[in-house]
Amino acid sequence: MPEPSAQDEFAWVYNKIWGPYASQAIQILDELLLKQLPPRARFLDLCCGTGQLSNLLTNRGYQVTGIDSSEAMIRFARRNAPDAMFVIQDARQFCHPESYDAIVSIYDSLNFITIKEDLIDVFQNVISSLKPGGWFLFDLNTESGYLDHWEDGIFDIVEDDHVCVVHASYDPEERSAQFDVTIFRLHDVWRRSDLTLVQRCYSKNQITESLEIAGFEDITIHGYHDEKGLTELTPESDRMYFVSRKPLREFHYENAKMRYMKWNR
Ligand SMILES: C[S@@+](CC[C@H](N)C(=O)[O-])C[C@H]1O[C@@H](n2cnc3c(N)ncnc32)[C@H](O)[C@@H]1O
Repeated sequence: MPEPSAQDEFAWVYNKIWGPYASQAIQILDELLLKQLPPRARFLDLCCGTGQLSNLLTNRGYQVTGIDSSEAMIRFARRNAPDAMFVIQDARQFCHPESYDAIVSIYDSLNFITIKEDLIDVFQNVISSLKPGGWFLFDLNTESGYLDHWEDGIFDIVEDDHVCVVHASYDPEERSAQFDVTIFRLHDVWRRSDLTLVQRCYSKNQITESLEIAGFEDITIHGYHDEKGLTELTPESDRMYFVSRKPLREFHYENAKMRYMKWNR
Protein backbone atom coordinates (compact mmCIF):
# COMPACT_ATOMS: atom_id res chain seq x y z
CA MET A 1 0.00 0.00 0.00
CA PRO A 2 1.39 3.49 -0.83
CA GLU A 3 2.51 5.66 2.08
CA PRO A 4 -0.02 8.42 2.82
CA SER A 5 1.22 11.73 1.36
CA ALA A 6 1.15 15.07 3.23
CA GLN A 7 -1.63 16.25 0.87
CA ASP A 8 -3.71 13.14 1.66
CA GLU A 9 -3.25 13.73 5.38
CA PHE A 10 -4.18 17.39 4.99
CA ALA A 11 -7.34 16.50 3.04
CA TRP A 12 -8.27 14.05 5.80
CA VAL A 13 -7.84 16.72 8.48
CA TYR A 14 -9.45 19.42 6.30
CA ASN A 15 -12.49 17.23 5.84
CA LYS A 16 -12.92 16.92 9.61
CA ILE A 17 -11.93 20.36 10.85
CA TRP A 18 -12.55 22.99 8.16
CA GLY A 19 -14.93 21.36 5.66
CA PRO A 20 -17.94 21.73 8.00
CA TYR A 21 -17.59 25.54 7.62
CA ALA A 22 -19.86 25.00 4.59
CA SER A 23 -22.92 25.10 6.88
CA GLN A 24 -22.06 28.75 7.66
CA ALA A 25 -21.20 29.49 4.03
CA ILE A 26 -24.59 28.29 2.77
CA GLN A 27 -26.30 30.85 5.02
CA ILE A 28 -24.22 33.57 3.42
CA LEU A 29 -25.09 32.24 -0.04
CA ASP A 30 -28.75 32.32 1.04
CA GLU A 31 -28.42 35.96 1.90
CA LEU A 32 -26.32 37.13 -1.04
CA LEU A 33 -27.05 34.86 -3.99
CA LEU A 34 -29.52 31.98 -3.92
CA LYS A 35 -32.68 34.06 -4.17
CA GLN A 36 -31.49 35.41 -7.54
CA LEU A 37 -31.26 31.93 -9.08
CA PRO A 38 -33.75 29.57 -10.74
CA PRO A 39 -34.63 26.40 -8.74
CA ARG A 40 -32.45 23.92 -10.68
CA ALA A 41 -29.61 26.36 -11.35
CA ARG A 42 -26.24 24.98 -12.47
CA PHE A 43 -23.41 25.71 -10.06
CA LEU A 44 -19.65 25.45 -10.24
CA ASP A 45 -18.01 25.06 -6.83
CA LEU A 46 -14.54 26.38 -7.68
CA CYS A 47 -11.76 25.03 -5.42
CA CYS A 48 -14.42 22.81 -3.84
CA GLY A 49 -12.11 21.15 -1.28
CA THR A 50 -13.81 18.19 0.40
CA GLY A 51 -17.19 19.01 -1.14
CA GLN A 52 -19.39 19.83 1.87
CA LEU A 53 -20.75 22.98 0.20
CA SER A 54 -21.40 21.08 -3.05
CA ASN A 55 -23.44 18.60 -1.03
CA LEU A 56 -25.56 21.29 0.64
CA LEU A 57 -26.23 22.79 -2.80
CA THR A 58 -27.27 19.47 -4.39
CA ASN A 59 -29.55 18.84 -1.37
CA ARG A 60 -31.36 22.02 -2.36
CA GLY A 61 -31.89 20.76 -5.90
CA TYR A 62 -29.07 22.62 -7.66
CA GLN A 63 -26.90 20.84 -10.26
CA VAL A 64 -23.33 21.07 -9.05
CA THR A 65 -19.90 20.52 -10.56
CA GLY A 66 -16.89 20.93 -8.29
CA ILE A 67 -13.29 21.44 -9.34
CA ASP A 68 -10.17 21.37 -7.22
CA SER A 69 -6.50 20.85 -8.05
CA SER A 70 -6.01 18.35 -5.21
CA GLU A 71 -6.79 14.74 -6.01
CA ALA A 72 -6.99 13.94 -2.30
CA MET A 73 -9.60 16.68 -1.69
CA ILE A 74 -11.65 15.47 -4.68
CA ARG A 75 -11.65 11.93 -3.29
CA PHE A 76 -13.40 13.18 -0.14
CA ALA A 77 -15.69 15.44 -2.18
CA ARG A 78 -16.97 12.46 -4.21
CA ARG A 79 -17.89 10.72 -0.96
CA ASN A 80 -19.38 13.79 0.72
CA ALA A 81 -21.48 14.94 -2.24
CA PRO A 82 -22.58 11.86 -4.20
CA ASP A 83 -25.02 13.83 -6.39
CA ALA A 84 -22.43 16.35 -7.59
CA MET A 85 -19.85 15.85 -10.31
CA PHE A 86 -16.17 16.47 -9.55
CA VAL A 87 -13.15 17.13 -11.75
CA ILE A 88 -9.50 17.54 -10.77
CA GLN A 89 -8.61 20.83 -12.41
CA ASP A 90 -6.59 23.94 -11.73
CA ALA A 91 -8.63 27.13 -11.33
CA ARG A 92 -6.03 28.93 -13.45
CA GLN A 93 -6.61 26.66 -16.41
CA PHE A 94 -10.24 25.53 -16.60
CA CYS A 95 -12.87 26.62 -19.09
CA HIS A 96 -16.39 25.14 -19.32
CA PRO A 97 -17.92 27.57 -21.87
CA GLU A 98 -21.18 29.27 -20.77
CA SER A 99 -22.23 26.35 -18.56
CA TYR A 100 -23.19 27.81 -15.22
CA ASP A 101 -25.78 30.10 -13.64
CA ALA A 102 -23.43 30.71 -10.71
CA ILE A 103 -19.83 30.06 -9.74
CA VAL A 104 -18.84 30.18 -6.09
CA SER A 105 -15.46 29.90 -4.41
CA ILE A 106 -15.61 29.79 -0.65
CA TYR A 107 -13.36 29.86 2.38
CA ASP A 108 -10.48 32.00 1.08
CA SER A 109 -9.69 29.54 -1.71
CA LEU A 110 -8.68 32.33 -4.09
CA ASN A 111 -6.12 33.67 -1.62
CA PHE A 112 -4.16 30.57 -2.68
CA ILE A 113 -3.73 32.15 -6.12
CA THR A 114 -0.68 34.11 -5.08
CA ILE A 115 0.11 35.91 -8.37
CA LYS A 116 -2.24 38.70 -9.40
CA GLU A 117 -1.96 37.90 -13.13
CA ASP A 118 -3.00 34.32 -12.34
CA LEU A 119 -5.99 35.64 -10.42
CA ILE A 120 -7.07 37.61 -13.49
CA ASP A 121 -6.74 34.38 -15.51
CA VAL A 122 -9.02 32.69 -12.96
CA PHE A 123 -11.57 35.50 -13.28
CA GLN A 124 -11.44 35.22 -17.08
CA ASN A 125 -11.98 31.45 -16.88
CA VAL A 126 -14.92 32.09 -14.56
CA ILE A 127 -16.58 34.68 -16.81
CA SER A 128 -16.14 32.44 -19.87
CA SER A 129 -17.73 29.54 -18.00
CA LEU A 130 -20.78 31.53 -16.85
CA LYS A 131 -23.99 31.89 -18.83
CA PRO A 132 -24.80 35.52 -19.74
CA GLY A 133 -26.10 37.22 -16.59
CA GLY A 134 -24.49 34.49 -14.42
CA TRP A 135 -23.27 35.23 -10.90
CA PHE A 136 -19.83 34.93 -9.31
CA LEU A 137 -19.49 34.90 -5.51
CA PHE A 138 -16.29 34.37 -3.55
CA ASP A 139 -14.67 35.38 -0.29
CA LEU A 140 -11.13 36.41 0.57
CA ASN A 141 -9.25 36.95 3.81
CA THR A 142 -8.66 40.63 4.51
CA GLU A 143 -5.50 42.26 5.82
CA SER A 144 -7.19 42.66 9.20
CA GLY A 145 -8.11 38.95 9.13
CA TYR A 146 -4.47 38.02 8.54
CA LEU A 147 -3.21 40.40 11.21
CA ASP A 148 -5.74 39.13 13.78
CA HIS A 149 -5.64 35.41 13.02
CA TRP A 150 -2.47 34.59 11.10
CA GLU A 151 0.25 36.80 12.51
CA ASP A 152 2.32 34.41 14.59
CA GLY A 153 -0.68 32.43 15.71
CA ILE A 154 -0.21 28.89 16.95
CA PHE A 155 -3.09 26.56 17.61
CA ASP A 156 -3.54 22.86 18.01
CA ILE A 157 -6.26 20.30 17.83
CA VAL A 158 -5.84 17.11 19.83
CA GLU A 159 -8.17 14.17 19.19
CA ASP A 160 -7.87 10.44 19.91
CA ASP A 161 -6.85 9.64 16.33
CA HIS A 162 -5.12 12.83 15.22
CA VAL A 163 -3.18 15.84 16.41
CA CYS A 164 -2.86 18.92 14.24
CA VAL A 165 -0.56 21.81 15.09
CA VAL A 166 -0.72 24.97 12.98
CA HIS A 167 1.72 27.84 12.99
CA ALA A 168 0.25 30.72 10.98
CA SER A 169 2.29 33.76 10.04
CA TYR A 170 1.74 36.92 8.00
CA ASP A 171 4.26 39.27 6.43
CA PRO A 172 2.52 42.65 5.87
CA GLU A 173 5.30 43.94 3.60
CA GLU A 174 5.08 41.01 1.21
CA ARG A 175 1.33 40.64 1.87
CA SER A 176 2.09 36.96 2.13
CA ALA A 177 0.64 34.52 4.66
CA GLN A 178 1.91 31.10 5.57
CA PHE A 179 0.21 28.17 7.30
CA ASP A 180 2.71 25.55 8.55
CA VAL A 181 0.85 22.43 9.51
CA THR A 182 2.14 19.38 11.37
CA ILE A 183 -0.22 16.43 11.52
CA PHE A 184 0.13 13.27 13.56
CA ARG A 185 -2.40 10.67 12.58
CA LEU A 186 -2.97 7.27 14.10
CA HIS A 187 -2.85 4.55 11.44
CA ASP A 188 -1.44 1.25 12.71
CA VAL A 189 1.18 3.51 14.30
CA TRP A 190 1.30 7.31 14.63
CA ARG A 191 2.53 8.95 11.41
CA ARG A 192 3.74 12.50 11.07
CA SER A 193 3.31 14.75 8.02
CA ASP A 194 4.29 18.38 7.52
CA LEU A 195 3.09 20.82 4.93
CA THR A 196 3.14 24.53 4.20
CA LEU A 197 0.33 26.49 2.57
CA VAL A 198 0.89 30.00 1.23
CA GLN A 199 -1.73 32.69 0.62
CA ARG A 200 -1.60 36.23 -0.76
CA CYS A 201 -3.49 39.14 0.75
CA TYR A 202 -5.28 41.26 -1.88
CA SER A 203 -6.85 44.65 -1.31
CA LYS A 204 -10.46 45.43 -2.15
CA ASN A 205 -9.28 47.73 -4.95
CA GLN A 206 -6.97 45.14 -6.51
CA ILE A 207 -9.81 42.65 -6.63
CA THR A 208 -12.38 45.12 -7.96
CA GLU A 209 -9.97 46.18 -10.70
CA SER A 210 -9.17 42.57 -11.61
CA LEU A 211 -12.88 41.69 -11.82
CA GLU A 212 -13.48 44.68 -14.08
CA ILE A 213 -10.53 43.74 -16.30
CA ALA A 214 -12.06 40.29 -16.71
CA GLY A 215 -15.37 41.92 -17.72
CA PHE A 216 -17.54 41.55 -14.60
CA GLU A 217 -20.10 44.17 -13.65
CA ASP A 218 -22.54 44.94 -10.80
CA ILE A 219 -19.76 44.29 -8.29
CA THR A 220 -20.86 44.44 -4.65
CA ILE A 221 -18.60 43.88 -1.66
CA HIS A 222 -19.64 42.79 1.83
CA GLY A 223 -17.65 42.45 5.01
CA TYR A 224 -17.68 39.43 7.28
CA HIS A 225 -16.77 39.61 10.92
CA ASP A 226 -16.17 36.38 12.84
CA GLU A 227 -18.46 37.48 15.68
CA LYS A 228 -20.96 39.72 13.87
CA GLY A 229 -21.40 37.76 10.62
CA LEU A 230 -22.13 39.65 7.38
CA THR A 231 -21.70 43.41 7.75
CA GLU A 232 -20.58 46.32 5.65
CA LEU A 233 -16.91 46.06 4.72
CA THR A 234 -14.92 47.91 7.42
CA PRO A 235 -11.20 47.95 8.28
CA GLU A 236 -12.04 45.36 10.99
CA SER A 237 -13.69 42.84 8.65
CA ASP A 238 -12.06 39.39 8.78
CA ARG A 239 -13.23 38.49 5.28
CA MET A 240 -14.68 40.20 2.25
CA TYR A 241 -17.33 38.70 0.00
CA PHE A 242 -17.50 39.76 -3.63
CA VAL A 243 -20.63 39.26 -5.70
CA SER A 244 -20.47 40.18 -9.39
CA ARG A 245 -22.16 39.36 -12.64
CA LYS A 246 -21.32 38.50 -16.21
CA PRO A 247 -23.04 41.06 -18.47
CA LEU A 248 -26.37 39.94 -19.93
CA ARG A 249 -25.50 41.42 -23.30
CA GLU A 250 -23.24 39.43 -25.59
CA PHE A 251 -19.91 38.91 -23.87
CA HIS A 252 -16.80 39.46 -25.94
CA TYR A 253 -13.99 37.42 -24.50
CA GLU A 254 -11.60 39.11 -26.93
CA ASN A 255 -12.48 42.57 -25.51
CA ALA A 256 -11.78 41.31 -22.01
CA LYS A 257 -8.51 39.90 -23.27
CA MET A 258 -7.60 43.29 -24.79
CA ARG A 259 -8.37 45.01 -21.48
CA TYR A 260 -6.13 42.45 -19.82
CA MET A 261 -3.26 42.97 -22.29
CA LYS A 262 -3.53 46.76 -21.84
CA TRP A 263 -3.46 46.35 -18.07
CA ASN A 264 -0.60 43.88 -18.26
CA ARG A 265 1.70 45.99 -20.45
C1 LIG B 1 -9.37 26.53 2.11
S1 LIG B 1 -9.77 25.22 1.01
C2 LIG B 1 -11.47 25.59 0.68
C3 LIG B 1 -12.24 24.41 0.17
C4 LIG B 1 -13.73 24.61 -0.04
N1 LIG B 1 -14.01 25.70 -0.95
C5 LIG B 1 -14.43 24.82 1.29
O1 LIG B 1 -15.18 25.79 1.40
O2 LIG B 1 -14.25 24.01 2.20
C6 LIG B 1 -8.94 25.73 -0.45
C7 LIG B 1 -9.04 24.73 -1.58
O3 LIG B 1 -8.53 25.36 -2.75
C8 LIG B 1 -7.86 24.37 -3.51
N2 LIG B 1 -6.96 25.08 -4.44
C9 LIG B 1 -5.90 25.85 -4.13
N3 LIG B 1 -5.32 26.33 -5.25
C10 LIG B 1 -6.06 25.84 -6.29
C11 LIG B 1 -5.96 25.96 -7.71
N4 LIG B 1 -5.00 26.70 -8.29
N5 LIG B 1 -6.88 25.34 -8.48
C12 LIG B 1 -7.86 24.58 -7.92
N6 LIG B 1 -7.98 24.41 -6.58
C13 LIG B 1 -7.10 25.03 -5.78
C14 LIG B 1 -7.15 23.53 -2.48
O4 LIG B 1 -6.78 22.25 -2.99
C15 LIG B 1 -8.22 23.46 -1.38
O5 LIG B 1 -9.04 22.34 -1.55
